[in-house]
Amino acid sequence: MDANGGIELTLLQGAPLQAHVDLFAFTTFGDPGKDSIFKSVDSALNGVLSDVAKSESFDGKIGQSIVVHTHGRVPAKRILVVGGGARSEFANPHIRDIAATVAHAANKASAATVAFMPPAFGANRELPLVQFTAEGVVLGTYKFGRYLTGEDHKRPMALKSFGIFADPKGKKPSAAESKAFAAAVTRGTEIAQAVNHARDLINEPSAIVTPIALATDAQAIAKKHKGTVSVIVLDAKKCQELGMGMFLAVGKGSDQEPRFIHMTYKPAKKPKKRLCFIGKGITFDSGGYSLKPSQAMEDMKVDMSGAAAVIAAMDAIATIGSEHEVHAVAACCENLVSGRAYKLGDVLVSMDGTTVEINNTDAEGRLTLGDAITYARSKIQPDEMFDFATLTGACMVALGPYTAGVMSDHESLVRSWLSVAERTGEDMWRLPLTTRLREQLKSPIADMRNTGDRFGGAITAGLFLKTFAKDTPWVHVDIAGPASLSTTRPSQPKGGTGFAVTTIIEYATRA
Ligand code: BES
Ligand code: MN
Ligand code: ZN
Repeated sequence: MDANGGIELTLLQGAPLQAHVDLFAFTTFGDPGKDSIFKSVDSALNGVLSDVAKSESFDGKIGQSIVVHTHGRVPAKRILVVGGGARSEFANPHIRDIAATVAHAANKASAATVAFMPPAFGANRELPLVQFTAEGVVLGTYKFGRYLTGEDHKRPMALKSFGIFADPKGKKPSAAESKAFAAAVTRGTEIAQAVNHARDLINEPSAIVTPIALATDAQAIAKKHKGTVSVIVLDAKKCQELGMGMFLAVGKGSDQEPRFIHMTYKPAKKPKKRLCFIGKGITFDSGGYSLKPSQAMEDMKVDMSGAAAVIAAMDAIATIGSEHEVHAVAACCENLVSGRAYKLGDVLVSMDGTTVEINNTDAEGRLTLGDAITYARSKIQPDEMFDFATLTGACMVALGPYTAGVMSDHESLVRSWLSVAERTGEDMWRLPLTTRLREQLKSPIADMRNTGDRFGGAITAGLFLKTFAKDTPWVHVDIAGPASLSTTRPSQPKGGTGFAVTTIIEYATRA
């Protein structure tokens, strides 16, 4: 699949209003009458722009936009103005939705060429704005259309070339500046393509994205980056030899074979740190014998979103390059019911020897992740490890659908993680690992049980995982809410979002 949609992203220079394109687009913040670009474009169009703004009550809010035909008054055929909201509240990642809005408008107007002028926020914000603009275009033109057979879904996109003005004042950039701008466009494109790749893996039905399919995907990425990325895939027998009793128990009820995936990126120079990103890889979660009701099960193909994120991120990390050694780990299997499935009351022996009594087979993610964390801690011995998991409905109750829950006892690590997430614009919020709640995980017959009470469900899941992380610096990210959404925004259609991919890449390549 062409994740980029075949759109060419270019850098433009010269006087913005002289651009010969089908659509010229820019942003205004609040009252357009106070915006200097708006006023200069408006006067070039003899006041048509302000007339339309008035009649459509356009006042530069987020979500608002206006389009006018120029009738030859400037070389561009149409002008699009996109509302940016309050200027003081505008953070760099917000440009993604604006750029995506421009791309949508271009397709709607059958415009093949676009010139976009990013807003001016001073020299130190120029490069991130260019990068996020590129991301917005690639993310905004994503569509999971494989199974749509209607003619209008087969029609190619009108948008072919999206030009970005490197300098808001139209001054000619130096050679070094041009190079930096081009690098920002490339970086943004690579990152968004990785996000779109994760989206594809999440949106694809579980009959297609099986544990074996995820392993094949990881192998394809390793092949693409031969020399820097390698991959080990362990089958059930190998996992048995390693003692992964929790991981294997979850997959037992399925005819799909489990696969344990371990990818490694090695930089050319001696690595600074060793990082490990672990993803939950349940390709379908029926709940097992603690069966989910139909409605709760409907979207459970997304339960491998963590695995999709860490696998897809490796592709961009290898392309961009990192000073760190980076590992991606995913224990992949399906949680189904059958005569071989694991049952309530079973006692499992985990890879680190901890015994676990099962009081709910629907709390399967922590079992697979627990062994994945033990594998990472003991075989990889990373300086820092992170896990990403669609782990609990309780986390969505606590934070809503858009925000991931972040849990860690490693203060400096969790702070640096959250600051990177803030930079990439992914919503994450810290929850405490309240020690007292651990009493909910007590079992009379085993070292612990796998499920606590209803209250504090996101935290008891985190506490369960902490048992296996031991002293290795570790951050747990519960992405049950944001991994897949039923609401849209311009840079994000319904379904799998690819949440966490951009922050993983940013952390591995820039922190
Ligand atoms: N995969 C689910 C969590 C989930 C719910 C992800 C909604 C995405 C959207 C997880 O395996 C699960 O079933 N969790 C249970 C835990 C409970 C049994 C302690 C839950 O949240 O109900
Ligand atoms: Mn479950
Ligand atoms: Zn699950």
